[in-house]
Amino acid sequence: MVRVTSDDQVTRGAQPRMTLGTMYFGTTVPQDVAERILDEAYDSGVRSWDTANNYAFWVRGGSGDESEQCLGRWFRRHPERRDEISLATKVGARPRPGARDLDEALGLSPAAIDSQLRASLRRSAADHVDLLYAHIDDTTVPLADTLGAMEELRQAGLVRRIGASNLTASRLRTAIEVGGHGGGYRFLQQRFSYLWPAADADIAPHVLLDEAVVAECSAAGIAMLGYSPLLSGAYTRADRPLPSGYATQHCNAMLQSLADVAAWVGLDMGQTVLAWMGQRSTPVWPVVGVSTPEQLRSAVTAVETRLPDDALAALDAARMEQ
Ligand SMILES: NC(=O)c1ccc[n+]([C@@H]2O[C@H](COP(=O)([O-])OP(=O)(O)OC[C@H]3O[C@@H](n4cnc5c(N)ncnc54)[C@H](OP(=O)(O)O)[C@@H]3O)[C@@H](O)[C@H]2O)c1
Repeated sequence: MVRVTSDDQVTRGAQPRMTLGTMYFGTTVPQDVAERILDEAYDSGVRSWDTANNYAFWVRGGSGDESEQCLGRWFRRHPERRDEISLATKVGARPRPGARDLDEALGLSPAAIDSQLRASLRRSAADHVDLLYAHIDDTTVPLADTLGAMEELRQAGLVRRIGASNLTASRLRTAIEVGGHGGGYRFLQQRFSYLWPAADADIAPHVLLDEAVVAECSAAGIAMLGYSPLLSGAYTRADRPLPSGYATQHCNAMLQSLADVAAWVGLDMGQTVLAWMGQRSTPVWPVVGVSTPEQLRSAVTAVETRLPDDALAALDAARMEQ
């Protein structure tokens, strides 16, 4: 069973068991609102912050610089707080200059990793990142080269820990073999929520944290983080239908169980998902996207609510039934 151990902590000290996702900070979330959320996150002890070097290039007018720059402005305003924040960024999935999609991404060659990381540091006004992810798989580069480049940055002090995102179980297994005992990726960030989509659902470029991936992480002691845990708010909002691929009988049964447990514990259904993620027997740290201070408060309340063992068991049982 994987636990986030003191050596592999996502955050430092006793903090709410969540990471703040900043994907739309500086684009759809205006700078002033984003900074209020960052202030509130800091004050409420949420010190694990997640960005990437391509957030959010797909938004109209976005270049991919905005989220890191937004964090950079906050760090310039609060230089004394930088060391209290665990800053994670990701490289590899930024389109090449002039390109607009992931088919033409900068990728994960050693030179590309090095230059992308240095640009991220400049944008985010940081001299290191606490966690550097390989954002998407790059099968054109040997994993040994990618891992070697990330390890070099770690040894140079520009990166504290390394992780990956959006790997299939078989690619993760290869990365674990290449990384060797105790080396390689220590964190994996994949798409994860209480509901899971039909097997044939097209969620690309996202890759699920499915049971096969969980098994690989558990065996190798890799800490797991789950992005898009709230399915964009679909658990609680009539204006947010479930993404395609979730209209299954199994999802309906899981939703019923989730509604029952949420009513029992006094959280809304999205909050119950966030609480469940961190408290399941194989914890998955939620990477929560918020666009208002109220949404941040809701998430903090969720992850600080202790779910009774029977509630966790009921949720797990409904999730496993097919
Ligand atoms: N590694 C990767 O490839 C990858 C991919 C995607 C995301 N991520 C990371 O994961 C983070 C979260 O991803 P996501 O935005 O897809 O997450 P999500 O949890 O699926 O959705 C977040 C959205 O849900 C809505 N929401 C939040 N709190 C709510 C509440 N209390 N009640 C109702 N609705 C609520 C908000 O929508 P509105 O803003 O519209 O109100 C918010 O923007 C990102 O910021 C990023 O850091 C990583």
